[in-house]
Amino acid sequence: MKLLLAITAVVAAYYLQCEAKTFTRCGLVQELRRKNYPESEMRDWVCLVEHESGRRTDIIGPPNRDGSRDHGLFQINDHLWCNDSNIPGKDCHVTCAELRTDDITKACTCARLIFRRQGFYAWYGWINHCKGKPLPDISMC
Ligand SMILES: *[C@@H]1O[C@H](CO)[C@@H](O)[C@H](O)[C@H]1NC(C)=O
Repeated sequence: MKLLLAITAVVAAYYLQCEAKTFTRCGLVQELRRKNYPESEMRDWVCLVEHESGRRTDIIGPPNRDGSRDHGLFQINDHLWCNDSNIPGKDCHVTCAELRTDDITKACTCARLIFRRQGFYAWYGWINHCKGKPLPDISMC
């Protein structure tokens, strides 16, 4: 019985993950190039995404101190940028679920808006792990 439960859990976990996507480093670079992210910022974006979400599209972060949460590839905050209901809203005019889909178009647009307002300083993942540090090698991408 325990074994059956364990197998069920593994199978369920597999299917729940089906929707999720983990980009390879070069896959991410290609996708960001397609969205016209400038080449001069590319390694910073890759570094940011790797530290914020591990390049996974479906991630919801643990609650922040103010109770807000961070969503998707860029770990975008629902206090300011997305509405955590089924009605698109806040500054990016999206639902937070739309920032966690495999199609990263909306997440990329929202991340650009955040960047225009605050630069990379909007992301602790970038401040703590990328700013002034060696950036990921994308020369093979
Ligand atoms: C977010 O969604 C709720 C419905 O759950 C809606 O009442 C609210 O106006 C929306 N907020 C924004 C900022 O659009």
